[in-house]
Amino acid sequence: MSEIANVQQAAYWNEQAGPTWAAMQSPMDRQLEPLGRRVMAALALRPGERVLDVGCGAGATTLALADAVAPEGSVLGVDISMPLLDVARARSAGHAGVAFLEADAQTHPLETAGFDVVFSRFGVMFFSDPPRAFANLRRALGPGGRLGFVCWRAPAENPAFTLPMASVQHLFPPPQPPQPGAPGPFAFADPERVRGILDSAGFADVAVTPHDEKIGAGDLDAALEVALKIGVLGGALREHPEKREAVIDAVRAALAAHDGPDGVKLDSATWIVTARNPG
Ligand SMILES: C[S@@+](CC[C@H](N)C(=O)[O-])C[C@H]1O[C@@H](n2cnc3c(N)ncnc32)[C@H](O)[C@@H]1O
Repeated sequence: MSEIANVQQAAYWNEQAGPTWAAMQSPMDRQLEPLGRRVMAALALRPGERVLDVGCGAGATTLALADAVAPEGSVLGVDISMPLLDVARARSAGHAGVAFLEADAQTHPLETAGFDVVFSRFGVMFFSDPPRAFANLRRALGPGGRLGFVCWRAPAENPAFTLPMASVQHLFPPPQPPQPGAPGPFAFADPERVRGILDSAGFADVAVTPHDEKIGAGDLDAALEVALKIGVLGGALREHPEKREAVIDAVRAALAAHDGPDGVKLDSATWIVTARNPG
């Protein structure tokens, strides 16, 4: 494999979060699918286009992108996590126009001008050197090629991510003050930072558009399982597994307050980001 610049993230997505996300692929896809769909709509994909899916994870978006550019189009899903790529490869068996690559998207020598579109659903906030990573992605786009991704706004605006932990925070050590911009889910919460990174990487026509939508992983049981394994609380419980039993009732009650005919739905706040490679 080519150079891995993001050694810590590679360890995290192979040893900690990756296996959990792989096991939780179905409810996570249900939760995130509407947000990925927003980006696909903004990109206005056309049949025959060549698409790069950055941080493709378990491959749900890679398959949806392949359908959007079928029959002659193609999609390459790139990810740093083997457990997630294993799921992606298994579920895409026999699907035409889809391939996967284990690589660090920040540094991998992607084919110059090899793609018409670079897409990502929550896969671009983990780079140690975002300007370098986005310059690498821009180089992979032909002149006029389009970039589109979705990333989280601030934690306070995202109960879908933070509510489970907020309901049981008193049972855990006080959280470390967040380091603004550090690689992680909220690294792109500041829209000016996102614009600056894309400008410095040479992109044009950068648009950072707020999008608010209630999202959910399914019924109360599904929402509880996601809450206990993913997000802020999921991470804390990986460090303190002995607290699992103590938190379940409170988290279930917090989620139940948002249960409805479509299951548990919580507010999410994201940026839909689009840009163009001027050439
Ligand atoms: C929050 S998950 C999103 C996964 C998937 N896009 C989805 O929406 O289900 C972030 C993904 O980015 C991947 N990732 C993180 N850093 C990466 C890097 N430098 N190069 C490629 N993939 C990376 C992780 O392994 C993980 O699969």
